[in-house]
Amino acid sequence: MTTLSLIKQKHLNLLQAVEKKAYVHTQATSLTKKKELGQFFTDHRIADFMAHLFSFTLPHSDTIHILDCGAGHGILSISLANQLIQKGYQNIAVTLYEIDPTVLMELDKNLKEFKKNNPGISFYYTIVEQNFILDHIDQKFDYIISNPPYFKLNKQSPEAQAMPHVIHGQPNIYMLFMAKSAELLKDHGEMVFITPRSFTAGTYFKKFREYLLHSLSLNHIHIFNTRKNHFQNENILQETIITKFSKLLSKDVSITSSEDSTFSHIDTLHTTKDLIVESRRNIICIPSSTSDLDILTQFHNAPATMEELGYKISTGKVVTFRNKELLATTTNGLFNLGKVYCPLLWMHNFKNETLIFPIDRIKEQYIECSDKSAALLIPNQNYLIIKRFSSKEQHRRINIGYIFKDDLHGGYIGLENHLNYLYRENRELTREEMKHLGDFLVSENVDQYFRILNGNTQVNATDILNLPIPNQLYKGYLCHA
Ligand SMILES: C[S@@+](CC[C@H](N)C(=O)[O-])C[C@H]1O[C@@H](n2cnc3c(N)ncnc32)[C@H](O)[C@@H]1O
Repeated sequence: MTTLSLIKQKHLNLLQAVEKKAYVHTQATSLTKKKELGQFFTDHRIADFMAHLFSFTLPHSDTIHILDCGAGHGILSISLANQLIQKGYQNIAVTLYEIDPTVLMELDKNLKEFKKNNPGISFYYTIVEQNFILDHIDQKFDYIISNPPYFKLNKQSPEAQAMPHVIHGQPNIYMLFMAKSAELLKDHGEMVFITPRSFTAGTYFKKFREYLLHSLSLNHIHIFNTRKNHFQNENILQETIITKFSKLLSKDVSITSSEDSTFSHIDTLHTTKDLIVESRRNIICIPSSTSDLDILTQFHNAPATMEELGYKISTGKVVTFRNKELLATTTNGLFNLGKVYCPLLWMHNFKNETLIFPIDRIKEQYIECSDKSAALLIPNQNYLIIKRFSSKEQHRRINIGYIFKDDLHGGYIGLENHLNYLYRENRELTREEMKHLGDFLVSENVDQYFRILNGNTQVNATDILNLPIPNQLYKGYLCHA
């Protein structure tokens, strides 16, 4: 074996040993405690992949200051320090934050072992047993690497109170780790994080995204094509991504993807921030092919969004289990005598987008039309219906239906809460307009756009209101609407 391959083997052995000890710790820790701490350990292949994303352009004479926040057993710091040594750096200082006392001994042991394995290197480390978000840190770092804890925080928690500038709605601790790290980077600093994908598009992360994209350049995104386990023996079904941000100004973004954490094959795409960041909500879109890039070009250059063209979307107001006493399966029953009923429409009333009413099912097809139900009903008009939930495996993300007022009797209808309905306030939708909009919403292009925009399966009303209407549709019809 050559010296180089010996060093590589030693590194691999240490990482695997760290991983093994982390596994033993995981097995001995209750799920409640793991959830409380957001403690899920990183696979050694992911640790090495994350470490190699730094650019290693700093002068070799410098001491490289690394921060690992939420360090666990130290696998990320060890991988990064090893990469630095491979690149010829000889002076490394690592600061590790970890709040769980039960991992500190192993953390210390692992770092000692790393130091012992690299005798010619000046390697120093400091373990800080403090809450990373609440601790006052006056040092700045060259490189920050982290697999932060993930869990929702109360807005009143001390952590959320400490960082009000990024809070909008319910915060998740991982975004506070990212935001605080952004503040701790030196002018040329870089940070690599593995986190849930939710921050790239989630409504609650809007302020955080603004802050992050304003303070740092987005350099790299890595996605996994399968959702399966990227964390040791833990059932994490969140879609996980690796991102790299830096202080240096750059608009270039690389996007890589692999099937899973074996990284046996990696696809790479080069793009720019201007193309992938949707300007209205700062959503970070994640294209994974040149065809995805074409879709983004088409949609992000569109002249107006659905909302800007005057469309509104609301959610069906009938929550059936809360309004049981107002519902009826038929209007002919003995109990219904003397009452007036109007249609109650559910998703199953739409077959291939066409309304079928009443439908022969057990579910109630009618809702009482009275003062008691007035707030739940809407005027019987033309509406485009959009199903609120769909799964990733479903053929299309957007499933629609048409309501034409002439097909239903009476002045009012009830819509069940799993339906959204699209309308205009200033006038009624025309049939022709509905067909144009409907065809557009179920088109392959819109489906592809939402997949790139948002890893979630859910397309909510805000997503549709913010949907850009590309030129051909706008020019063809809707600008006259
Ligand atoms: C997702 S684990 C990752 C551990 C390790 N970095 C790895 O990648 O294997 C996050 C770690 O952060 C620690 N942690 C949770 N909250 C913390 C806080 N407020 N300050 C510092 N560490 C924290 C947890 O105990 C846990 O070990």
